Amino acid sequence: MAREFSTIGVVGLGTMGAGIAEVFARSGFDVVAVERDDVGLERGRGHIEHSTARAVSRGKISAQEQAELVGRISFSTAPEDLADADLVVEAIPERLELKAAVLKRLDEICRPDVVFASNTSSLSVTELGVQTARPGRVIGLHFFNPAPVQTLVEVVRTVVTEPEVIEDVTALAEKIGKAPVVIGDRAGFIANALLFGYLNHAVRMLEAKYASREDIDAAMRYGCGYPMGPLALIDLIGLDTAFEILDTMYHQSRNRLHAPAPLFKQMMTAGLLGRKSGRGFYTYANRDSSEIVADAGGSAAAAESGIQTRPISSVGVVGTGTMATGIVEVFAKAGYNVLVRGRSTEKAEAAVAAVRKSLDRAVTKGRMAEADRDTVLARVRPTAALEDFGSVELVVEAVAEDLNVKRSVFATLDGVCKPGAILATTTSSLPVVECAAATSRPGDVVGLHFFNPAPVMKLVEIVHTVSTDADVVATAQKLCLDLRKVPVNCGDRAGFIVNALLFPYLNDAVKMLEAHYATSDDIDTAMRLGCGLPMGPFQLLDVVGLDVSLAIEKSLYLEFREAGFAPAPLLEHLVTAGRLGRKTGKGFRDYS
Ligand SMILES: NC(=O)c1ccc[n+]([C@@H]2O[C@H](COP(=O)([O-])OP(=O)(O)OC[C@H]3O[C@@H](n4cnc5c(N)ncnc54)[C@H](O)[C@@H]3O)[C@@H](O)[C@H]2O)c1
Repeated sequence: MAREFSTIGVVGLGTMGAGIAEVFARSGFDVVAVERDDVGLERGRGHIEHSTARAVSRGKISAQEQAELVGRISFSTAPEDLADADLVVEAIPERLELKAAVLKRLDEICRPDVVFASNTSSLSVTELGVQTARPGRVIGLHFFNPAPVQTLVEVVRTVVTEPEVIEDVTALAEKIGKAPVVIGDRAGFIANALLFGYLNHAVRMLEAKYASREDIDAAMRYGCGYPMGPLALIDLIGLDTAFEILDTMYHQSRNRLHAPAPLFKQMMTAGLLGRKSGRGFYTYANRDSSEIVADAGGSAAAAESGIQTRPISSVGVVGTGTMATGIVEVFAKAGYNVLVRGRSTEKAEAAVAAVRKSLDRAVTKGRMAEADRDTVLARVRPTAALEDFGSVELVVEAVAEDLNVKRSVFATLDGVCKPGAILATTTSSLPVVECAAATSRPGDVVGLHFFNPAPVMKLVEIVHTVSTDADVVATAQKLCLDLRKVPVNCGDRAGFIVNALLFPYLNDAVKMLEAHYATSDDIDTAMRLGCGLPMGPFQLLDVVGLDVSLAIEKSLYLEFREAGFAPAPLLEHLVTAGRLGRKTGKGFRDYS
């Protein structure tokens, strides 16, 4: 029988503490909420009132329930009021000396059977535990932001935490509607250890002016289905909190990928802490507001850049694979005449048939009228001759991911296409400039990295090389908007935005599994529930294919020579063993 908790103490009513107090009060517990002074107390009370009022306005709870909920919380600035608590959750700032002082004080005040829980994101729970005379009753209880919404809770056991404390706290977490994952005491636990390397990388990308803040965020939202972009997420977490977490993780792991990007310190010194200060990577309407307002830091859209774009009405697509047929469908649906070139007439005709099949599916599902399907298909023409591309204004190359094959296509196109035609490659890992160098017109060559399936995925990465003309980039951008896609601009380096941010994180997840820190199920759960990702890392790796993932990781490692990007040996072993993911029925998991 798990222990019955009735009174819960919460120390610190900031971003997290206020949410944690609300969660317990909502489940019927009496809560004693303690802040360090009246100002903090009023702000904390404000957070809770505001958050519960929002729940009322959204119809999630009634006004009466709100009043009862808030009524169950007693607010105080005196730690002595925690004397009768069964469990105290500490959620004060992420600094060891502050937390140590609070725990020492609580140790003097609280009953012998109390459980102390820390909401720390990265500090050692063991080190916090030994500040008290009862380290066996100290545990990590790591909620996610916003605590009332996010269901994941990481329950962190130390080498001395008593087994019944772990059981009792896990049962309590379930009772308040959370999904607990029990893990050992390691900086960043599961979710932050994997998340913050990625967030830090995004800041480095911005710092290097590789892409704009809007484009980095849009890339992860529309390319990976993440609920928020990394920079907007750091603004929500708080730059100071994010810095502390990274710094602690770095000191424990000595992994350079965790060393906070210098931009963090600069922004913190300038008081740009994110939403809580009204400005971080973005500017907000007010302190604590989620409404982004315009400022001088935004990237200008092509339409506003004043650059004259090139007219495009007919398009040639080279290739007959998944990406090529998806792209043909996208262009034809948007009203462009498309010539699709296969290595033989049969292959080109099969590609048109694949487009027809996809449109037929849309008709069957009632998403498209038969007449519209016929109009769209009438715009598509197959050919086996690249020489037919003499009249098109844009060519999109989507042949095999092999540099020699692509270079020879570009050399041929160079001899065939009319002056001013834009030559685009869909490569996801080869340098675009290699394709450009195979032509006598590198200014006309650009990368258009569509995502799979092209008709569904909104993102297109527009990759400019050192030679790409500005009007070619502006035309590509206008074109993508016309295709109802979300274009982002980036330079010509391995992984572009999405894969460069995604794959090191996936690699870190494999390394975590390899180190036996957590199971693949727990890691997937933590990332889905804790970070709101559509899929956990192992689910995603199995879908993408382990061989494809390994190739991308190798290209990132070879380009950046970053030790942390070196593919995890476990991934290489699985590929060698032929476990390539869903496509072979076995990857990190077995599929029937
Ligand atoms: N922000 C996040 O997304 C997030 C997510 C999970 C966990 N955490 C962790 O939760 C903890 C709190 O983070 P936060 O973002 O809520 O910070 P915050 O700065 O928003 O809130 C901290 C609060 O603690 C109060 N405080 C400071 N000293 C105190 C004391 N001695 N007694 C009582 N109250 C005191 C402060 O007045 C402030 O209101 C940290 O350990 C952090 O790492 C944060």
